[in-house]
Amino acid sequence: MPYQHIQFDLDESGVALVTVNRPDKLNALSRGVIQELDHAAGRIAEESAIRAAIVTGAGEKAFVAGADINELAALTAVEARAHARRGQQVFRKLETVPKPVVAAINGFALGGGLELAMACTVRFAAENAKLGQPEVKLGIIPGYGGTQRLPRLVGPGRALEMLLSGDPVTAAEAWRIGLVNAVVPQAELLNYSRAWLQKALANAPLALGLVLEAVDVGLNSGLEEGLRFEAAAFGVSAASEDRREGTRAFLEKRRPVFAGK
Ligand code: COA
Repeated sequence: MPYQHIQFDLDESGVALVTVNRPDKLNALSRGVIQELDHAAGRIAEESAIRAAIVTGAGEKAFVAGADINELAALTAVEARAHARRGQQVFRKLETVPKPVVAAINGFALGGGLELAMACTVRFAAENAKLGQPEVKLGIIPGYGGTQRLPRLVGPGRALEMLLSGDPVTAAEAWRIGLVNAVVPQAELLNYSRAWLQKALANAPLALGLVLEAVDVGLNSGLEEGLRFEAAAFGVSAASEDRREGTRAFLEKRRPVFAGK
């Protein structure tokens, strides 16, 4: 599928760089962007040559400044519900990719932009980034998961402060409350994201996927279900070739070479 609204670049280490590419509209999430993100998430999940991904925005000003307000302004209630469900499903697809996905937040991450970043595995922010859920200022509420993922990430108190005021936080404040994992100069953002991914990708791929799944299952059910899933996934990891290679390499005092099997 040729993309018009995003860019999809795969490097030789298997990291896909997905760039939302509407810089003149601060990378706002139009229907076209959502459709292409859906396709990109499918590629990241299914193609074995892709081991991880970075999601970012084109230009130096914005990661994503929200859902496209021009499109929102024209929706009926029934259409708006479907619009929200569609975005939620695409972000959920990205969130459940069994590979690490970094949000490289290179500027404004507002509304759907912050919701997109929160559906990623980890978030690194440029120093100029501003993050917020301003929907209430427009007479609407977040529709792509903001009311659900923000309290899970930063706790209900801080989440409600952001959701009810609509005011963005700086990158430094986002780091302080645990909304982003690190803050780096904008020029270093992609290199920092790649370096972190290389560290994770040196580990057993199957184990990475199972950790992602176990955390997701636990957060979306309860402790007991999460623990049961963890034990079953632990059993799967223990039966893998990677487990044999990892433990053997440790005992032989060498670096493991994982096959992802
Ligand atoms: N949807 C559609 N277009 C958007 C947009 C969005 N969410 N965010 C920005 N744009 C467009 C602007 O309309 C403008 O287009 P134009 O040049 O054709 O007029 C262009 O992007 C540049 O934005 P502009 O507002 O001129 O930049 P700024 O530096 O003055 O302000 C923001 C930057 C991010 C503060 C401001 O664009 C903004 O508040 N955007 C909306 C954020 C929002 O409420 N998101 C949640 C949506 S649910």
